[in-house]
Amino acid sequence: MMSPFVSEKERVEGYTHVVLILTGSVASIKAPLIVSELLKHENVKIEVVATKASFTFFDAGAIREAGSRVWRDEDEWLEGYKVGDPILHIELRRWADIVLIAPCSANTLAKIAHGICDNLATSLLRALSPSTPTYVFPAMNTLMYEHPLTNEHIHVIRNVIEYSVVGPIGKTLACGDVGLGAMTEWRDIVQIVVDRFQLKRKAEVLEQSQEARTVS
Ligand SMILES: Cc1cc2nc3c(=O)[nH]c(=O)nc-3n(C[C@H](O)[C@H](O)[C@H](O)COP(=O)(O)O)c2cc1C
Repeated sequence: MMSPFVSEKERVEGYTHVVLILTGSVASIKAPLIVSELLKHENVKIEVVATKASFTFFDAGAIREAGSRVWRDEDEWLEGYKVGDPILHIELRRWADIVLIAPCSANTLAKIAHGICDNLATSLLRALSPSTPTYVFPAMNTLMYEHPLTNEHIHVIRNVIEYSVVGPIGKTLACGDVGLGAMTEWRDIVQIVVDRFQLKRKAEVLEQSQEARTVS
């Protein structure tokens, strides 16, 4: 169990605070890449919120090494709650300048569209201010994506909840099927945040890539 997260103490003036939500899609494997690439930019902080199903797919140790914490449902349920104690999903939504749901499983997509909030990720989303930019990157098997309900859920998420839905893209999926359903390329997800907040690469990262170019 991690120590309580309090937005007021965790927010840093001038920083961009990114919440990355991971769900039970194979594409969660890309999470350490997204986190480490974003953290190559100045003044960025990331907190990862992972659903129970997502833990099968990504290396939580690699995310921690890159410099982000990984929050799970159990972290929400501290023993002996007293009035006034911080509530994790509320603190995280207060903290966030942007929320990325990357990848968004068919299940979480359906839950968001119906307002269901039965875990840390969906409680955070249900409590989120409409002014916080929120991006959904669906990732699922092609037939799951082509299921008529997916279209309905995306319609509600775009037009009623007003999140940005980006992708999916077409390629050979982890299950072997070829077609629409893959998560947007992780570099393009990073680029959305970089462009939106005008993030600059850290000087040492620029120097390292210059040195690498000189050597090669
Ligand atoms: C190996 C494996 C791969 C899966 N890949 C996906 C996927 O890419 N997209 C998806 O929507 N569901 C996928 N699922 C099913 C979800 O993990 C399942 O619906 C789960 O309940 C999602 O929970 P969550 O939305 O809370 O993360 C996969 C399941 C397994 C066992």
